[in-house]
Amino acid sequence: MEHLPHVESAVDSLFWDRDDPVKRFAALELLLKAAACEPGVEAIRAHGGIERLRKALAWDDEEAVDIAAAVLAQCSGSTARGPGARTFEFSGHTVRLRETDYVEGGLGWRVWASGVVMCRELIRLTAENKLTIKSSDILELGSGCGVAGFLCAKLGASRVTFTDYLPGLLDNLDKSVTLQLEEEGPVISSGDESKRGNERFRVHYLEWLASCPVLSQEWKSRRPMGGDGSCSANADETTHSIKNRFLPTNETFPLIIGSDVCYEDPLPSALAATIDKRLANPGTAYLVLPVRDWPGVCGIDLIDKLVHGLRSRGMNVDVEKAPDLDDDEYQGGTFVKHPLGMVSVWVRRGESL
Ligand SMILES: C[S@@+](CC[C@H](N)C(=O)[O-])C[C@H]1O[C@@H](n2cnc3c(N)ncnc32)[C@H](O)[C@@H]1O
Repeated sequence: MEHLPHVESAVDSLFWDRDDPVKRFAALELLLKAAACEPGVEAIRAHGGIERLRKALAWDDEEAVDIAAAVLAQCSGSTARGPGARTFEFSGHTVRLRETDYVEGGLGWRVWASGVVMCRELIRLTAENKLTIKSSDILELGSGCGVAGFLCAKLGASRVTFTDYLPGLLDNLDKSVTLQLEEEGPVISSGDESKRGNERFRVHYLEWLASCPVLSQEWKSRRPMGGDGSCSANADETTHSIKNRFLPTNETFPLIIGSDVCYEDPLPSALAATIDKRLANPGTAYLVLPVRDWPGVCGIDLIDKLVHGLRSRGMNVDVEKAPDLDDDEYQGGTFVKHPLGMVSVWVRRGESL
């Protein structure tokens, strides 16, 4: 139990000191000791340690990898399990998708708590006629595993375009699209299932920094793939696997959604530029964001930056308090409760102002 107060800094050290073999080894040893008791396991999960440990499995350091694997084994549970299909229920709508693995999928490897809140809100807003999903052409930004996009398909969207910037996530989304099509069964009328899939679900590469050339240049070498350094994909492999996946440059959408897409700098500015470029006129973007502090940055400031970036481009923005998950739904990992909860951000342009 004496290790508990140090779990958070040890988890942080797996990221910040990941290039320092001595410090990262010390952090792993501490986590191994902490994981010997249930509160230690809980603390590791609650501070996002599972994701960091999974990343450590890819280090070129056998001893460190062995310890990371041993800690993970002690922390078995939902966030420690490997890739696979998962089913979510939202007021009678079932969404089945595939979650991937931290090395492939970076921060989008699992569904995040705000993705679940987003789904619940989409159902409520639709029922109250505050948002029209039926027959809409929807763009999801930072899809990760795409939970909100797949729910939109269930709610009758005419087409859902999933986007992200990590090749492993795009591949994983492809697999989830296949799951949807299998679940729906063959189309008797047209007999062309793949065409139907391509019409209703698309998976594209969209990197927000690309909407903002100045930022893109400035952050190119500073921001590791996966945001927190979780994916250090080989640049050539990345270029190869996204080559045919770019979202066509001039496409715009009447409805854009995104959950948990505004955290570290420079994402707020890049996201504002992306929404500006991709939102049709008239158009609405609806985001659900946790108010999450990031090392060196306060969560509220990040959201303010996003709002400022959107307003300065002429869009109308409203920020509202969003509902939160119930306390017993928070399990650590990607379901971590933040003291200031979540907000929803409405962005409107044109007639929908
Ligand atoms: C915290 S995850 C949220 C995933 C999903 N929306 C959810 O709620 O479960 C953030 C997502 O944004 C994506 N992302 C981060 N930076 C990005 C960027 N510059 N361009 C495009 N996507 C980005 C990540 O790859 C990840 O899938």
